[in-house]
Amino acid sequence: MGPTALNPGFVLLLGIETSCDDTATAVVRDGRNVLSNVSTNQDAFHEKYGGIVPEIASRRHVELLAAAVDDALDRARVSLRELDGIAVTAGPGLIGSLVVGVASAKALALASRKPLYGVNHLHGHIFAAFLDRAEEPAYPFLALLVSGGHTQLVDVAGPARMKVIGRTRDDAAGEAFDKTARLLGLPFPGGPHVDRLAVSGNPEAISFPRHRTPEGSLDMSFSGLKTSVKYFLETAEGQGAKVADVAASFQAAVIDVLMDRVERAAAAKPYAFAVLSGGVAANSALQAAFTEWGRQTGIATLVPPPRYCTDNAAMIAAAADRQGEMVSASPATLGADPNLPFSFTETA
Ligand code: KG4
Ligand code: ZN
Repeated sequence: MGPTALNPGFVLLLGIETSCDDTATAVVRDGRNVLSNVSTNQDAFHEKYGGIVPEIASRRHVELLAAAVDDALDRARVSLRELDGIAVTAGPGLIGSLVVGVASAKALALASRKPLYGVNHLHGHIFAAFLDRAEEPAYPFLALLVSGGHTQLVDVAGPARMKVIGRTRDDAAGEAFDKTARLLGLPFPGGPHVDRLAVSGNPEAISFPRHRTPEGSLDMSFSGLKTSVKYFLETAEGQGAKVADVAASFQAAVIDVLMDRVERAAAAKPYAFAVLSGGVAANSALQAAFTEWGRQTGIATLVPPPRYCTDNAAMIAAAADRQGEMVSASPATLGADPNLPFSFTETA
C-alpha cells in the first residue's frame, strides 16, 4: 500500500486504546494494514455488576497494558525502535481508563523518542472502516457511529474536517440494547445477545414506537423505546410473549430510526459512500439494512468486520495516520480528556 495523505511514506504506528474497558494495542502500517491487533476484554469482570465499573476497568488496564504493548509488537514482529510513532486515545471516555493509556504512551514516546499522537476515540471508530481494505476514504462521506456511549451521524469532509449532523438526545443505541437486554434477563453487554436472539424472533410481532423528528433534523432518541419495552413486559401480553420476538421487535425499531436518519442525511447531501462504525455496527440486522440501503441507492457502503467495530487500537492508529499533524502531541503536555470535543474547531 502506498503513502497516505498526511504522512507520506510507509508509516508504522503503535496504537493504544484504553478509553473504556478493553485493553487494546495494535501495530498498523499506513493506517490500513493491521500487523497485529490485541484486545483483552474485561467483560467477565464487569458482568456481575451489570455494567462497567470504572475503578475496576482502570486497575485492569494498569495490570494488562504493558504486556499488551509487548504482545502487539511481538505479533507484528516489530521493535519499538522501528516504529514511526505512538497513537493513543486521548478521549472521550472514562478518565481513570484514559489516563492509563495516555501515561503509558507518553512514557513509551519519551523513552523511544518517537512522535506521539493523541486521537479522539470517535474518529478512530470512523476510520476503522478502512482497516484491511484497499479503499482510501473519498471525501465527503457519511458515517453512522453507533456505540455504547455514542450515536451520531457524521459528515466527514476530510480527515480532520468532521461535523456531527445528527445525534441521540438521550440514550446511545448500544445503551438501549444493553438496557433492553437486561429487561429480558440477558447478560451484559446485551447487544450481541439481543442480536443472536432476534434471529429466531419475529420483528413485526410487537409494534414498538419509532422516534420521530421534524423535517430538517437528524436527531434521534432511544430512551422512550426502552421504556415501552419495559411497560410491554409488565402487561399480560408481554409476560406471555416470546423473548425472541421482543428482541427482534425492539431491534427492528432501533434500526428503523437509524436508517431513517441515514436516508435523510443522504437525501440532503450527495455522498459517494457511507460507513457504519462503533460497537453496534457489529449487529447483523443493522449491517444487512445498511448494506441493502447502499445497494438500492448506489451509495457504496463500508462496514468493518466485528473485530474493528468494537473498541480496538488499530482504529486509533488508522485515525492518527490520516490526521497526522492535526493530532500530533507532546509527551510533556498531552492530557486525557473524558469530554474531548468531537470537532477540532471546538477545541480552545
Ligand atoms: O464501541 P463499543 O465497543 O464501546 C463503546 O461504547 O465505545 O460499543 C459497545 C456497545 C455495547 O453497548 C454493546 O452491547 C454493543 O456495542 N454491541 C452490539 C452488538 N455488539 C456489540 N449491539 C447490538 N448488536 C451487536 N451484535
Ligand atoms: Zn467505542
